[in-house]
Amino acid sequence: SRTVRRNADGAVTVGGLDVRALAEEFGTPAYFLDEDDFRARCRAWRDAFGTDADVFYAGKAFLSRAVVRWLHEEGLNLDVCSGGELATALSAGMPAERIALHGNNKSTEEITRAVEAGVGRIVLDSFQEIVRVAHIAERLGKRQRVQIRVTVGVEAHTHEFIATAHEDQKFGIALAGGQAAEAVRRALKLDGLELIGIHSHIGSQIFDMAGFEVSARRVVQLLTEVRDEHGIELPEIDLGGGLGIAYTSEDDPREPHEIAKALNEIVTKECEAAGLGVPRLSVEPGRAIVGPTAFTLYEVGTVKELEGLRTYVSVDGGMSDNIRTALYDAEYSVALVSRTSDAEPMLSRVVGKHCESGDIVVRDAFLPADVAPGDLLAVPATGAYCRSMASNYNHALRPPVVVVKDGAARVIVRRETEEDLLRLDVG
Ligand code: LLP
Repeated sequence: SRTVRRNADGAVTVGGLDVRALAEEFGTPAYFLDEDDFRARCRAWRDAFGTDADVFYAGKAFLSRAVVRWLHEEGLNLDVCSGGELATALSAGMPAERIALHGNNKSTEEITRAVEAGVGRIVLDSFQEIVRVAHIAERLGKRQRVQIRVTVGVEAHTHEFIATAHEDQKFGIALAGGQAAEAVRRALKLDGLELIGIHSHIGSQIFDMAGFEVSARRVVQLLTEVRDEHGIELPEIDLGGGLGIAYTSEDDPREPHEIAKALNEIVTKECEAAGLGVPRLSVEPGRAIVGPTAFTLYEVGTVKELEGLRTYVSVDGGMSDNIRTALYDAEYSVALVSRTSDAEPMLSRVVGKHCESGDIVVRDAFLPADVAPGDLLAVPATGAYCRSMASNYNHALRPPVVVVKDGAARVIVRRETEEDLLRLDVG
């Protein structure tokens, strides 16, 4: 929704830089990320939730060492869900106590490394893991701060693959049937664990606050049961991430201050009703922070007009740099950015260069009828779950992430090379 600026000859500029010069210098496809925008979104979340809450950026959306430093400087915490993300966070200097470790099947190595490093919390996802983390912590002579992830039984209205709080899926421990209460009972008995709270994440790309509110209410209900049974008030709750962003003009996302207000109100109200102290709240936005901050720049290679159907515009990337359209039927927009055109709009499908017909970047888009090889196309809102889910399918070389700031561009993740690919192939 930011205004698009163009040079006198029609090429789009970002931060004062001409996209044609960017393509020349960094190649295509490439992701271009606006550091100031990223930092501003971090601050918006911090300000919205204030000092009585913590904002954990979900590293799965996109993580690099530069990102870790920005988060650190802007006062955010970091949610990691693998040894690789943990290593990235620690190597870029994120204090361990500001890191949370997630995952439904953390390995012994991952847990050990996290406990040794002293991460602020591990989010327990199964009965086996309660025991596993406790044993590892005890062996290391530590008491690990943990939360228990529960599934609250909310149907988040989003794509099935990214909804996570309904009953029939792999994450968390169900509130239903007293499972979560039993998990609390077991965790409280183990010396290696300090149970600090309850965690719930209901899904991703959500626009409707109702699901978060139900989730908050049910989590507080569990805190009440825990108080009644054990006489202790767990001091923290985490309500996960999931706030949606605008991929197309049809999407109307909520702002951080709206979700903060809704969550604070409901938690406070429910706690007061139950006679509980208000726990410290935390949230884990990923997409809402990084998603809108980047776009992908592609070069058109071929154009095929299929009479009476549509025009297929092939670009030099595809499902290897953005799997979301193929995987979730995700919608994106696209624009011709290397020039302006007065040609008629034509119904187009922007496709990649991979060897399957599902390799679609933008399913339906109107592009000028004179789009031609050599033109540059930009797909906005690719900051989240594009580079982080990129693959080497067809031995594609994963694109670089280039940061634009103060009228200058610099690489924070370099383009993969054929040497990188061949280095792994030791046969
Ligand atoms: N916290 C937990 C425990 C999560 O599992 C996730 C996302 C988040 C936070 C961050 O959610 P966000 O604020 O980014 O929506 N690959 C999919 C999204 C998968 C999300 C997985 N978990 C996509 O491209 O849409």
